[in-house]
Amino acid sequence: MRIAVGSDHRGVRLKSTIVELLQQWGHQVRDVGTHGTQSVDYPDVARQVACLVRDGEVDRGVLICGTGLGMCIAANKVPGVRAAPCHDELTAELSRRHNDANVLCLSGEMLNEQVVQRLLQIWLETPFDGGRHARRVEKISQLERQSCSPAKPATPPE
Ligand code: RB5
Repeated sequence: MRIAVGSDHRGVRLKSTIVELLQQWGHQVRDVGTHGTQSVDYPDVARQVACLVRDGEVDRGVLICGTGLGMCIAANKVPGVRAAPCHDELTAELSRRHNDANVLCLSGEMLNEQVVQRLLQIWLETPFDGGRHARRVEKISQLERQSCSPAKPATPPE
């Protein structure tokens, strides 16, 4: 897989581990930085990875900041990006099965390397379930093109 990886200063240590791991597993990695511990603004890095995903330059993205949250909020502003903050095996699995997440957001400070390895494995190997989830993901895409008024009632759940 072609995977873009980026972090801010608070995720840079974990990023090095992740880049190495992904390369060992045979993936084609694009490391967009940051490369040092000097403070950088996470939206700038999120933008780079998100745009590579949006433009089809890579298949997936991985973003790391202190919490994983700022990166996720920023990346999701880019149309076509479905970024998910994952902290455990279940969120990693369901972000793929239900949400077809194409960007994985991780905390550089709250996860140990063993957990990260497992989350990455699950996230890269788990397919999208499709079916009713495809309809919902399509509605997410529609949100990127719609205004908020008039309000639309929710479709009754199946
Ligand atoms: C940077 O200080 C910090 O805010 C960032 O790494 C991240 O945790 C934001 O959500």
